[in-house]
Amino acid sequence: MIYFLDTADVKAIARCVDLYPVAGVTTNPSLIARENRPLGDILKDIRDTIGPDKMIHAQVLSPDADIMVDEAQRLRDRVGEGFHVKVPVTAQGMKAISKISSLGIPVTATAIVTAEQALMAAVAGASYTAPYVNRLDNICGDGIRVVSEIAHLFKTHQLDALLLTASFKNVQQIHDVAMAGAHSATLPPDLLELLIVHPLTDSGVSGFVSDWEGVYGKGATILDLI
Ligand code: E4P
Repeated sequence: MIYFLDTADVKAIARCVDLYPVAGVTTNPSLIARENRPLGDILKDIRDTIGPDKMIHAQVLSPDADIMVDEAQRLRDRVGEGFHVKVPVTAQGMKAISKISSLGIPVTATAIVTAEQALMAAVAGASYTAPYVNRLDNICGDGIRVVSEIAHLFKTHQLDALLLTASFKNVQQIHDVAMAGAHSATLPPDLLELLIVHPLTDSGVSGFVSDWEGVYGKGATILDLI
């Protein structure tokens, strides 16, 4: 599983990149707008925070394919290496995916809620496809099933596109997409942190420390004693 952070909050990105195996950052227009400052500044801050080697997936906004292509090129020029442009799977988006990928800019097809949307985006040239799990679950859809179907279709049709699963509200959804064969997931920072939380782990670690300190004294470390 490859983890991405789904946020434009630079402080949260800095904390998570320091602690966890994060491959990159994904944003969308809503996440950018939440920061309420210039897009170029946000992208620069994200790049400075995550370093030159991690990916940044940033999304186009226009409903028109030709303008999406221009937006993709402008975003690529701003972000540099490791840039992927997110394009929604509308009709104009499909046209833009073909054009942008033929220019050598990797595309992440986004706002996917059906397996057929993902299949067509992959055929059009998308390198990642982003199905929205929680948004489907919220309306009695089955986000995990859509992810499984996409994984099955890509395998059956021997497509190289990868699954960048998105839109999560709980750890169970992330576990389920991993079990369904998803290659990657983009998560809000608080959910990424929650993935490894368990009270038995916390009590286990506390027990090690109290057993140790009971014998060697409070604050004694391995480095003091070896
Ligand atoms: C992914 O492409 C989207 O940015 C995101 O995951 C959507 O998540 P939400 O449903 O929590 O807004």
